[in-house]
Amino acid sequence: MPVVVHWGADLGGLGRHALEALADSQVPAVTASSPDVPVRATLLPLAADGWPGLPGLAGWRPAAPDDGAARRPAPRQVRTTSDGGTVTVLLADPAAGLEVAVRLTLHAQGVLESTTTVTNRGTTPYVLDRVVSTLPLPARATEVLDLSGRWAGERRPQRAPLRDGLWERGTRHGRPGHDAPFATVAGTPGFGFRSGEVWGVHHAWSGDTSVRVERLASGHAVVGAGELWGPGDVVVGPGETYTSPRTLAGWSDAGLDGLSERFHAWVRARPGRATRPRPVTLNTWEAVYFEHDLDRLRALADAAARVGVERFVLDDGWFRGRRDDRRGLGDWTVDEAVWPDGLHPLVQHVTGLGMEFGLWVEPEMVNADSDVARRHPAWVLRATPGREPLPWRYQQALDLAHPDAYAHVRDAVVALLDEYPITYLKWDQNRDVLDAPSRGQVLATRRLMDELRERFPALEIESCSSGGGKVDLDVLDRADRVWASDTNDALERQAVQRWTGLLVPPELVGTHVGDARSHTTGRTHDLSLRLVTALFGHSGIEADLTRATPEDVEAVARWVRLVKELRPLVATGTTVRADTADECWVHGIVGPGAQEAVYAVVTRAASSAAVPPALLLPGLDPRGTYRVERVDLATPPLVVGDAPPPWWASGAVELPGAALAEVGLPLPPLAPEQGVLLRVTRSGGA
Ligand code: GLA
Repeated sequence: MPVVVHWGADLGGLGRHALEALADSQVPAVTASSPDVPVRATLLPLAADGWPGLPGLAGWRPAAPDDGAARRPAPRQVRTTSDGGTVTVLLADPAAGLEVAVRLTLHAQGVLESTTTVTNRGTTPYVLDRVVSTLPLPARATEVLDLSGRWAGERRPQRAPLRDGLWERGTRHGRPGHDAPFATVAGTPGFGFRSGEVWGVHHAWSGDTSVRVERLASGHAVVGAGELWGPGDVVVGPGETYTSPRTLAGWSDAGLDGLSERFHAWVRARPGRATRPRPVTLNTWEAVYFEHDLDRLRALADAAARVGVERFVLDDGWFRGRRDDRRGLGDWTVDEAVWPDGLHPLVQHVTGLGMEFGLWVEPEMVNADSDVARRHPAWVLRATPGREPLPWRYQQALDLAHPDAYAHVRDAVVALLDEYPITYLKWDQNRDVLDAPSRGQVLATRRLMDELRERFPALEIESCSSGGGKVDLDVLDRADRVWASDTNDALERQAVQRWTGLLVPPELVGTHVGDARSHTTGRTHDLSLRLVTALFGHSGIEADLTRATPEDVEAVARWVRLVKELRPLVATGTTVRADTADECWVHGIVGPGAQEAVYAVVTRAASSAAVPPALLLPGLDPRGTYRVERVDLATPPLVVGDAPPPWWASGAVELPGAALAEVGLPLPPLAPEQGVLLRVTRSGGA
């Protein structure tokens, strides 16, 4: 059974002999009270090879429940092939009637992609219980960080020492969920954004997932990921094959930022992604909610166009009967009562102003109060006929694995895309698929997205799921951005964006300027904090601009100009995050060749020190000289005390990159919840 001998630093160009010597030298000792052969953490850890931890493959044959070989598979290597960066290990267990292929691809960006396929070579169905793509962790990885969260508070980090035992994160939502582990990172003690050696794994799948880190008392440690199923959910018929989702892994000796750099580069290189500059967006949701009124929306479009918005997205509320969130899902035709002439008058107005038009849809769902649910009750996704899953936001999942339900939704969306010049769908999923198998739904949704994109190649899709419930690197094969959270509270957003950015590059994360008083938290923030927060992403606005003061409108218009100026940098730069005390966050984007950069300095609370610690700007070329300029996006940040440091008062300073990274700049005591933008340009140096 193959093992990964080394997952870590590049050892240089080792020749065949050196590689063989390395592999041979890594055979471990046979220990006391253990199998008489060395036990190793293999690519598919199994009891048959002496692995006493969780097996990497488990299943059984219901037609032959006593078939011990099927229940305890022992596949052996048949052959290993290598094609470019891909190695495929083919394994077979004739007694169990199983064939397994583990495929590993090391991408140029340093992201390792791993998939496992299981083929049933037997004559009876094989029920899969578990398939886990597994990688070994070295003993020096002693801490584990992963993410959790809730609605409007997605991707919150949690961290713990790695102990003997199993740390398993299972999510059963039929979507990754707001509490998705997202990235599971093991690392050397105290690893941070800028330091430490880290080994990280992401399960690229929009459905139920299990990610685990397991350390045995023997000292073996592994990290693995796979789908999470209910009993009997996945049955592989004779001659059929199951293919796992991709598990993506990355290593870095430059902390979490190094891991992000690899993943961002990999995501950016994926084929079929929209590469044109990300259009500044206005989304109508927090501006009007369900109150769709042509005149009001036209006025909003006017205001949007005036500040330079390029894409106007009509959110929920436009389709038949949808006057609130209790009805209408599934009836994807324009509501005749609210829109007697269809969406045409609004779409023409929007495009006449030079903006693109985008539309919200929720194709996977249905309200009980809808024509489609009344006509086709059998299309509701259920575990068993007659038992309705609990309603959730008054809705159920529409069974897209049902060919007629699928065709109904596809045809309705195609009709909309045929009738209107829609360039963008905000694709939502506002409930869990909890009380029914969800795999078929996830696959059908993928198929639907593929079909629509094939038919409308210019169409862009945003992956939304009650905010950030569907943020994963599988959906990003089809989507051009994610909606990271329903909270537009700038402070909450700083956290959501920081940790979403662990894997997803900023230009693929929707970031909107919301109202002064957040709709989700009730907290009030200065415009400058809201603007600086929404600058680091695919920027947009989600507020009623028609009610904004002239000063705010002017500031937003200036900001939109800056967004357009900076978006090439945002879309190509390297994300950096300083390891600072919790109350002051510093993050930035450094452009190619470190010629320019932008940083945000955000005080999440008042500094605990009277004189705040120096501001360190990571990621610049130490040999370069840089001009650092403070940019006031709206009213200048509130400073407590009398005299700020001279560089701050003058608004700019010029220093070597090494000094900015190692010595830093003194900060004034900023009031809590302030945001400062720094623009950095190289003025000299090698
Ligand atoms: C979800 C989304 C929101 C909005 C509403 C509309 O909650 O996350 O952004 O689109 O649905 O109902």
